[in-house]
Amino acid sequence: MSKKVLGISFGRKMSNCDIMVKHALMECEKAGCETAFIRADDLKINNCTGCIACVIGIMSGRGRGYCVQHDDFDILDECIMQSDAVILACPTYETSVTGRFKTICDRIGPSHDFSFRKVAIEEGEAKGIPEEQLPDKRCLKPRTAALISVGGAMTENWIALTMPMMYEFTFPMGIDVIDTVEYWGAMAHESVLGYPEMMDRMTKVGQNIVASLEATTEEERIKWRGDEEGCCPVCHTRLIQIAHDKKTADCVVCGSHGTFEIVDGRLEMHYTKEEMERSRLRWAGKLEHSTEIKTQAQPAGTITNLKELKAPYAAFDRPPFEPDPNAHGNIQK
Ligand SMILES: Cc1cc2nc3c(=O)[nH]c(=O)nc-3n(C[C@H](O)[C@H](O)[C@H](O)COP(=O)(O)O)c2cc1C
Repeated sequence: MSKKVLGISFGRKMSNCDIMVKHALMECEKAGCETAFIRADDLKINNCTGCIACVIGIMSGRGRGYCVQHDDFDILDECIMQSDAVILACPTYETSVTGRFKTICDRIGPSHDFSFRKVAIEEGEAKGIPEEQLPDKRCLKPRTAALISVGGAMTENWIALTMPMMYEFTFPMGIDVIDTVEYWGAMAHESVLGYPEMMDRMTKVGQNIVASLEATTEEERIKWRGDEEGCCPVCHTRLIQIAHDKKTADCVVCGSHGTFEIVDGRLEMHYTKEEMERSRLRWAGKLEHSTEIKTQAQPAGTITNLKELKAPYAAFDRPPFEPDPNAHGNIQK
């Protein structure tokens, strides 16, 4: 059976992100893959309300762990579940991903967490719970991804947070990112079509995804195929946070923690093998986090005088400021 590649563009219709994802998908089709293309803005997806019904359901084994809201996220979810690989492109808005991208990540969030789901499926099967009452088993399928970030500014720094944030789509589901591309200077709608090197790079994105899908070993499947090694040896990104001790640092994207030094004028991160396994991209790190939530989350009713403590805040309610009649704001009269 042919492999399925899902492309998702978070950009404007027929603009840079659309074109870049479509080009990479065309390359996958040349290699015999079946593809689907989704424009995120065509979907109506509500924000996560924070009700945590998904987490409670999946952790207690009393539900499938899905969102109580049914909207177009279900279409996206079905496509992700069918896919063997995903190619995502997201514009940069205010140095980071778009609001829609974040909304979708929040909806993927805990409900699709690979460790939550794997444990729920295994425990449910052991209890003889029918498959249709458990999380979708297709979530356990290995998947790879290529991430593309796009920015209009001519300066790379103006797209600095986009790529790191894009991992929020892949890491909860345990999708292995094998390639990333950052394209800045996309001033015009379809500027990428006048940039042959970038279009060639999109051909390479498609080829890299195909290579990961055709791999015969796990090592080859998840092999990093990006242009640069980056700073983090686990996720290959470059967003490193210096710890409060100013002697150690961690990767903002994957959580690996270690020391750093400058060797021949270049930053080098050193993580122990153990610390690398604690990355949220790896099973031990994922399990540590889900166990932490399962065992340490405070159940309701732990604070005895809660009603009394809450009372002043419940009584505190203030309306928005009245429009200033002397200023030239944007309130429509
Ligand atoms: C609200 C908004 C904020 C933006 N902020 C940035 C930014 O911080 N950095 C940047 O490089 N480009 C910024 N841009 C430009 C877009 O990233 C750029 O137009 C990109 O090409 C959009 O992708 P698309 O062509 O696929 O729609 C912004 C655009 C909008 C609409």
